[in-house]
Amino acid sequence: MTRWRVRELVTADLGWVARIIAGHPLWAPYGMGDAAAAEARVRRLLARGEEGLALLGAPAGAQDAGKERPVGFALFTLGTLGNGGYLHLIGVAPEATGSGAGSALLAAVEATLARRGVDRLLLLCNTRNLGAQRFYERAGYEPVGLLRDWAVAGQHERIYLKRPLVAQGPDEAPGPGDGGDG
Ligand SMILES: CC(C)(COP(=O)(O)OP(=O)(O)OC[C@H]1O[C@@H](n2cnc3c(N)ncnc32)[C@H](O)[C@@H]1OP(=O)(O)O)[C@@H](O)C(=O)NCCC(=O)NCCS
Repeated sequence: MTRWRVRELVTADLGWVARIIAGHPLWAPYGMGDAAAAEARVRRLLARGEEGLALLGAPAGAQDAGKERPVGFALFTLGTLGNGGYLHLIGVAPEATGSGAGSALLAAVEATLARRGVDRLLLLCNTRNLGAQRFYERAGYEPVGLLRDWAVAGQHERIYLKRPLVAQGPDEAPGPGDGGDG
């Protein structure tokens, strides 16, 4: 098992974040099909005030932080729809998919927002991305609508909402990667 650590996403992370994005074909229709385009997009999101978290993973038994590797990222905005938050992008490295990394990261995003008084989180998920839809529904997100041809013609987005958010994440609760060997 892996243990996880979450920290703020900074511009020095752009290179590996862009590689994760470019490695997932689902983002290509949104103009992020290669690492340079993905990096430019994330740089713009951070510059306009979006916030992010980085998920670092270390193999069980690793004694020091130097063994950690970046495995996932999330970008989000506060203050959408009154007191709501908007999860703009979340992704984990292809080799970490299905490892619990995404769940740990999503819980950390929710906890970060909840600690700052944000009580609901909204996100869009491509209707063809059935794996991510299962992932969100398992995490308690409710499909509340559909946006056709929203960001890109021919791509449709399912709207997901979770409320209330709970100020409990991998830092506070036992769960995937709570510092233990699982
Ligand atoms: C969606 C994503 C963040 C989930 O992170 P993860 O670490 O793979 O997820 P976890 O291990 O915490 O949870 C596994 C669950 O995620 C879902 N899942 C989504 N895509 C998956 C994939 N390619 N492989 C395995 N599980 C996937 C499934 O529900 C799975 O549970 P199940 O197999 O029992 O049904 C990650 O798979 C990813 O980065 N996917 C590509 C980018 C993406 O789709 N982002 C969301 C855009 S809206």
